[in-house]
Amino acid sequence: MQRGIKTVDVRAAQEDITQVQADVIIVNLFEGVTEPGGVTGAVDRASGGLISRLITSEEVTGKLNETAVLYAIGVNAPKVVIVGLGEREGLDLERIRQAAGSAIRAAGGEGRARAKTVATVVHGAGLGGLDAGSCGQAVVEGSLLGAYQYQDYKGDKKAGIDELIVVENDEAKLPLIEQGAVKGRVLAEATNLARDLVNAPANTMTPSDLAEAATSVARRGGLTIEVLDGDDMKRLGMGALLGVAQGSDEPPKLVVMKYTGREDADTLALVGKGITFDSGGISIKGREGMHHMKNDMAGAASVIGAMEAIGRLKPDRNVVAILPCSENLPSGSALKPGDVLRAMNGKTIEIISTDAEGRLVLADGVAYAASLGVSRIVDVATLTGACGVALGPFRSGIVSSCDRLAQDIAGASARSGEGFWRFPSDRDYLELIESDVADLKNSGGRLGGAIVGGLFIGEFAGDTCWAHLDIANTCFSDKTRGYQPKGATGVAVRALVELALL
Ligand code: BES
Ligand code: MN
Ligand code: ZN
Repeated sequence: MQRGIKTVDVRAAQEDITQVQADVIIVNLFEGVTEPGGVTGAVDRASGGLISRLITSEEVTGKLNETAVLYAIGVNAPKVVIVGLGEREGLDLERIRQAAGSAIRAAGGEGRARAKTVATVVHGAGLGGLDAGSCGQAVVEGSLLGAYQYQDYKGDKKAGIDELIVVENDEAKLPLIEQGAVKGRVLAEATNLARDLVNAPANTMTPSDLAEAATSVARRGGLTIEVLDGDDMKRLGMGALLGVAQGSDEPPKLVVMKYTGREDADTLALVGKGITFDSGGISIKGREGMHHMKNDMAGAASVIGAMEAIGRLKPDRNVVAILPCSENLPSGSALKPGDVLRAMNGKTIEIISTDAEGRLVLADGVAYAASLGVSRIVDVATLTGACGVALGPFRSGIVSSCDRLAQDIAGASARSGEGFWRFPSDRDYLELIESDVADLKNSGGRLGGAIVGGLFIGEFAGDTCWAHLDIANTCFSDKTRGYQPKGATGVAVRALVELALL
């Protein structure tokens, strides 16, 4: 399967939106506005007051993500999309991204006429409080994320947009908007890359395929990459990762990618869970929904996406990515409950459930990161169903022994609009995974499952400042909303990049 970055041409232009040459133009509306002003007002006047009339008849309300499509209304473009931004009060970058994502799908016209060139205003850029650069970024990011479609295996592929023109009247704002647009485009393309990897079926996304995807990202971005195989793992004493892999015919891989921003700067390690299919192993899962377990490499995919963006945005520090990749299958050679494994750092683990395999591969991934002498370790994983029980589908979980790092991640994810929420992370919980026969056991039962699972991984970080991100509940969406089309979300890519840029 050929995989690559899907790109859309993006440019910022100082133009009058009523005159711009495009298949569709996108303008916006706040909730409660009866007489539209600014650019929307200009389009309203050009249409002889059509938008005002639609507001009066309550066909257009300005509610966040509401879209209306109007045809041939007196502006140059044959089609106009009006998108709601919600209340003027409290407009933020996340709402701008959401609205941009909703608008682009209405513009592209799922099932309707194809739009190649879409022109959009920069939502929020005319308002005090939000800087034009960030608004430009949010509009481009939301648009390209919202336009994403996964069609690698469709015979009849729907066309996407080719060109996005970000239109701004005020020449003074243009340079900032241009800068923001570049960052927004990089972040969206990197997130869409992660989405492609997660959406790919497990029969074409084996550990070897995942390592290959990482290799092409490294090549493109000038990063160094090493792919360790089973023999290397044996030499390094990675008994936990090997234990998970032993039930599968697919060879495990440990990918190590390095970005060097400044030789003498600190190094951030990103460790991503790369279980390309999780059947549960001998502790096999029920058949209901098992196909979703092709998503179990979403942590690794997010780290690969982040490295793609980091290679392009070039932050002033060093980042190393570590991806322990394996399948988790039952077979005559599979790991069994009751078995004891020894991880790279020497700690022994009693297996209670072979379905708690993510923490096993991450134990060796994180121990490997610590052995490199990095200053901070962040692991990203679809680790527990319990995380979703606690947080629902809108927030990912943080477990961390390091307050400063947990705060930095919360801050980075607030910027990216992804929202990560820290669980209590004190060592008291470790009591639940004390083993009678080994140093630790790999499952402590249902209570506090997301916390305990995270803290287990932290035991392999040594003294290094460490945080764990659980994206089991957020890596996939069963519904289209805002800039998130149904399917893989690429969650954490943007937060990880913001963290690396901090
Ligand atoms: N990959 C799963 C977690 C998961 C569940 C991801 C649902 C996405 C959706 C993980 O390997 C797992 O099976 N976790 C177990 C842990 C338990 C055995 C301690 C779980 O959450 O049930
Ligand atoms: Mn599992
Ligand atoms: Zn898993």
